[in-house]
Amino acid sequence: MTTRSESATPPALRHLIGLEHLTAEELTGILDVAAQMKEVNSRRVKKLPTLRGVTVLTFFVESSTRTKMSFELAAKRLSADVMSFTASASSLTKGETLIDTARNLEAMAPDIIVIRHKCAGSPALLARHVDCAIVNAGDGAHEHPTQGLLDMFTLREHLGSLAGRKIAIVGDIAHSRVARSNIFGLSKLGADVHVAGPATMLPPGIEDLGCTAHQRIEPAIEGADAVMMLRIQRERQGNDLIPDAHEYHRFFGLDAERLRLAKPEALVMHPGPMNRGVEIAPEVADGPQSVILEQVENGVAVRMAVLYMVAAQRGLDASRSSAE
Ligand code: NCD
Repeated sequence: MTTRSESATPPALRHLIGLEHLTAEELTGILDVAAQMKEVNSRRVKKLPTLRGVTVLTFFVESSTRTKMSFELAAKRLSADVMSFTASASSLTKGETLIDTARNLEAMAPDIIVIRHKCAGSPALLARHVDCAIVNAGDGAHEHPTQGLLDMFTLREHLGSLAGRKIAIVGDIAHSRVARSNIFGLSKLGADVHVAGPATMLPPGIEDLGCTAHQRIEPAIEGADAVMMLRIQRERQGNDLIPDAHEYHRFFGLDAERLRLAKPEALVMHPGPMNRGVEIAPEVADGPQSVILEQVENGVAVRMAVLYMVAAQRGLDASRSSAE
């Protein structure tokens, strides 16, 4: 990849807090850079010198498997130095303590902090108190912008333009940051976004974000180009919002029979971790229409793009200064 000569200048990205305030052009710009990064990931030597000398700190105060590894791999593929700071959620609380933590992190002079926190708004708060670039890796039930981007990237690879495409998002919409980022992002790219879940998992006003809401799965997935299933976010629910997992599967689970309501080639997606037999049946999760592992693969490319773009915005892009 020769990032700059092949592509139009990517849009400036100071931080990545969410997709809500990005324009369609900015979103497309990130996806275009990610496509170039994906090409790098297909090479035998999957490494660029682009972020040489740049320090990326991953600060995860909530559990993660995929996202943390994906960000660290992305940073390493761009030759950045990576430090990890993992704190148990119980040792940190909101507000003042987070700012104190942020000051300590900043004393280690990172250029980019990738943060996952159970409190919505933490990345935005951090961005106001530290000088380095902040990338949100999931804040409470608010946003998970890189997941939204990797989902959009995967959809775009299969469907081309997303304008007019029907995308169904099914499950615990109320507690899902993945749903919110996808609703914001997909609707900006012109997709027809439908969400479905039990009434207890559909927040009031959800349609104002740019989607159509249903209390049954069938109308959401009927004729859909893609069906994205979500895990029930028990860690964010005060009370049990469904009677039991079997009952949930019966009414909202995606199995082969239900999938037939969607378009014949409809994509099956899931951000992981999956609860097999609850929101998704194994026959569908492992079936020919599933792109779940492609989503994971594309996550690395998307995160490389985001890290590159926030670094470039700060003039930290090593290949830029040496190439120009
Ligand atoms: C999601 C998350 O953490 O919000 N997972 C992920 O990042 N791949 C979804 C989930 O936890 O269900």
